[in-house]
Amino acid sequence: MSYNNILVSSKDNIAQVTINRPEKLNALNKETILELHNALGDLEEEDSVRVIIITGAGEKAFVAGADISEFADFDEEQGAELAREGQRLLFDFIENLSKPVIAAVNGFALGGGLELAMACHFRVASTNAKMGLPEVSLGVIPGYGGTQRLSLLVGKGKAMEMIMTAGMISAEEAKEYKLVNYVVPQEELLPFTEESIATKILRNSPLAISAAIRAVNACYQDGVNGFETEIEEFGNSFGTDDFIEGTTAFLEKRKANF
Ligand code: COA
Repeated sequence: MSYNNILVSSKDNIAQVTINRPEKLNALNKETILELHNALGDLEEEDSVRVIIITGAGEKAFVAGADISEFADFDEEQGAELAREGQRLLFDFIENLSKPVIAAVNGFALGGGLELAMACHFRVASTNAKMGLPEVSLGVIPGYGGTQRLSLLVGKGKAMEMIMTAGMISAEEAKEYKLVNYVVPQEELLPFTEESIATKILRNSPLAISAAIRAVNACYQDGVNGFETEIEEFGNSFGTDDFIEGTTAFLEKRKANF
């Protein structure tokens, strides 16, 4: 499928989705959100794809936020709908995708851009990356899950400070606050993410990884007992071909072939 605002490629079981509006610092307009939803849904169905990396085009921005020009004249109802639809189509969708989604943050990740990175399962940043939730400077609050996910990732106090000041933090600070797992030079961002992280994931059982995503996410869902989810997912693993292959390979002293 061809898209207007994103590029999708895949090689060796790793897909790369690049938000491609560099002239607008990859700001997320409605069409881009829909394209990301469709592309990620297709990649989830595509058996050959086992890890997905999301990044931004150009050297300046991952995503500089939701497209401000699209909502500047919205009223309360339209504002709520914008947040609800965006969360459903993209942010919650990514968090619950059955395949690992890694954000390779290559520059500004602001507002919806940081929210997008935070909806991914984890993040790697380039040294020039800058992150923040500047929404209150526009008279709104983060609406794509930012108040919730930032608090979970960096803790309430730091989240409150970042949101209230509308400031930006550096990649190194983001690592210190556990918002990103690694910081590497920009030219190494994608090679590092692919070779040092994605390829390690590829060695492991895709079915077990999907189950692990569901179990970890259960920790953050209201009214769900994550320990019970873990017991259930653990039990279900025993009924999979991956479990037979993984344990047999170990006992036969060979590498598992998932
Ligand atoms: N929505 C819509 N357009 C955006 C955008 C956004 N979130 N972020 C950047 N752009 C556009 C600019 O309007 C500009 O377009 P133009 O050339 O047609 O005028 C282009 O991208 C380049 O941005 P510019 O502001 O000129 O770059 P800069 O290097 O001077 O500043 C930023 C970079 C990231 C500091 C600045 O673009 C910015 O503050 N963006 C908004 C960040 C934000 O508040 N995000 C949260 C939105 S809820």
